[in-house]
Amino acid sequence: MKILRVLLFVLSMIMTLSFDTYCNGNNQSLIPRPMLINWLDDEFILKSNSSVSSESEKLQDYFDDALRTLTGIRLISHKNNTGSEIRFILDPDFNSSNKEAYSMNISPARITISSGDETGLFRGIQTLLQLIPAEIKLKKDSDSIKIPCVKIFDEPEFSWRGLNLDCSRHFMTVDFVKRYIDILAYYKFNTLHWHLTEDQGWRIEVKKYPKLTEIGAWRKEADGSIYGGFYTQDEIREIVAYAESRFINIVPEIEMPGHSLASLAAYPENSCEGGPFEVTNVWGVHKDIYCAGRDSTFIFLQNILDEVIQLFPGKYIHIGGDEAPKDRWKECPECQARIIEKGLKNEDELQSYFITRISRYLSSKGRDIIGWDEILEGGLAPGAIVQSWRSFQGAIDAAKSGHFTISSPNSHTYLDHDPDDLDLRLAYSFNPIPNELTEDEKVFVLGSEANMWTEHAPQETIDSKLFPRLLALAEVFWSNPQSVPGKADYDEFYNRVQNTYADLTARGIKYGRETKVITPKTNFDKTKNEFTVKLVRGQKDIEIRYTTNGSAPDVNSELYVDPITVRSTANLKIAAFKNNSIISKAITLGFVYHKALGSKITFANSYDERYRAAGENALVDGVRGTNNIHDNNWQGFEGVHFEAVIDLGKAINISRVTPRFILNSNSWVFLPEQVEISLSNDSMNFTDKRSILNDVQQKNSEIVLKDFPAEFNGTTARYIKVNARSILKCPEWHPGAGYDAWLFIDEIVVE
Ligand code: ACM
Ligand code: ZN
Repeated sequence: MKILRVLLFVLSMIMTLSFDTYCNGNNQSLIPRPMLINWLDDEFILKSNSSVSSESEKLQDYFDDALRTLTGIRLISHKNNTGSEIRFILDPDFNSSNKEAYSMNISPARITISSGDETGLFRGIQTLLQLIPAEIKLKKDSDSIKIPCVKIFDEPEFSWRGLNLDCSRHFMTVDFVKRYIDILAYYKFNTLHWHLTEDQGWRIEVKKYPKLTEIGAWRKEADGSIYGGFYTQDEIREIVAYAESRFINIVPEIEMPGHSLASLAAYPENSCEGGPFEVTNVWGVHKDIYCAGRDSTFIFLQNILDEVIQLFPGKYIHIGGDEAPKDRWKECPECQARIIEKGLKNEDELQSYFITRISRYLSSKGRDIIGWDEILEGGLAPGAIVQSWRSFQGAIDAAKSGHFTISSPNSHTYLDHDPDDLDLRLAYSFNPIPNELTEDEKVFVLGSEANMWTEHAPQETIDSKLFPRLLALAEVFWSNPQSVPGKADYDEFYNRVQNTYADLTARGIKYGRETKVITPKTNFDKTKNEFTVKLVRGQKDIEIRYTTNGSAPDVNSELYVDPITVRSTANLKIAAFKNNSIISKAITLGFVYHKALGSKITFANSYDERYRAAGENALVDGVRGTNNIHDNNWQGFEGVHFEAVIDLGKAINISRVTPRFILNSNSWVFLPEQVEISLSNDSMNFTDKRSILNDVQQKNSEIVLKDFPAEFNGTTARYIKVNARSILKCPEWHPGAGYDAWLFIDEIVVE
């Protein structure tokens, strides 16, 4: 059928005599790219006296509102208008049975959007809104809009095109969530996956259990401040209705049995050990989870789900199921009794029992569950949809066992990941359908979701995390460019992204980076005693600007043209700009002149290759690490002590030696317990040993940079040995308890 439709459409395009490739000036910015498109030479002029006739009254109202919001143009009245005409037609004989399919025909006299369903009309209206030039959206005071003439036929490859918004780690306001519903609609997504409960915050009002929000919605931050928020049921109804009017389904996620500490802080009786617990401010995985042995826990969850069902009319309820450590279940008499009573083999099967029991309950209410791919462990509940996140494997296993799946591997869809690791090109290269599936199995892949986890993303940073990479996923989800050889054309997509920036700006979207935008390459020239800094660009059409006086770079700072020379201890701050907006975090390069610059250094235990920084030379290259362990200046050592010897080349006077370490407990990076520094002239006998004890609390979610200075009063020596004693394993209070701890060290400054 699809092939027939394509042939018919191509034929009609040829007959219009102006078969045009996808290359018409300003109009190259449609994202996702429609299935079939034929640009024509003329223009349609939209004015306030244009008439809109729609077979769907609600879409007529929607279009009036959207047009007014985007452009400032207020359509006067639809009846008796004499101007150009816009028609939204519901066609029972429309040539696609896909509810989201539409066709669009724009001629100088008329815009016609047709579909067999309101959903398709709505998707088509989004294409029309995208065709309005960005300048019109920016100014909002035009009295006429030129829209290019075009013929389009369009329908999606995937029926599930979602964004997962984590409103638990960081709370997002009602207006912000609605704004994102509009953004999703604009790019033809159809699902908002709303992550509403977590260890760090419970965000949905439940009338039967008021403490869930009185206690569970608020956490104490490391600085003592209180952080939190929640959505009342009225607010949720308002958001659900708003999404419905944009043909977007909301899937609420109520996490169980893990990621439930905020709930347990409010009702500790649902845990194995009984608490008390606090809503945590520590990211990661926590061991206290719902008890699977107590029936009262299930009743509690069912009562919550009863209220959830009332609020969310969609078929699917996401119940999480990920990252549930089994430590407490192993020790809990009730959980162990359940294992015996039900003849289960182990705690994995107990998890499966848990999920299946909840799944059956929801099934009895006419709903189906979605769970993260861990729900495959120990057996899958009938009818469950698997959201594959750890890799593609969950999607493969689900499809091969006849279960529907949402294929959203973190490698390609976790847009909280830094663009250095997951960039625009990688996002565009994503194919949600794993190669391992047969044609029959592929139908189980419903689609995919972008995921916006917010541990490190308060609301005001969400735009910059999602954009522009969400554009790549919008295109992947709608048209799956990688599905057939020759369909994907990254350069062509990239051009549309470039044209879309103005549209993003006009709509107030504060986009971030496509990729790693600046790679600094520093070099110390021993003979000239100076550093040179070359800045390599990773993205087209950006300006790099910098400061040397410690201030944050802005659009008026010095423009980078040639490599920068640094001749004294200095802080170079660098940032990338596009369209007069900053699009990167400022990179700080702290240069420090000292006596060991460029010296040879040998290690007793090697650094981890992932955290090699500048390699052998990194600790004596004169460039300081920032508070970001990924800044390519910190060297990481996993589960071992640190020991290195610096050879200064000849004996010199030494007054002080200062290695610097970093604490970042959320990333399993801890300070050494103690640092020992000693000197030698023959590299065999080390004397003058100084010991410096750590005096900073390791249980601290703040990032701390800590110097361990050793004083030597001008002792003469050629060799310096630095020993740092790691804690080796993450401490008992830490989510990684028992696993290898990291030591991160940067410059060893010798004075
Ligand atoms: C997940 O990222 N834990 C689903
Ligand atoms: Zn238990």
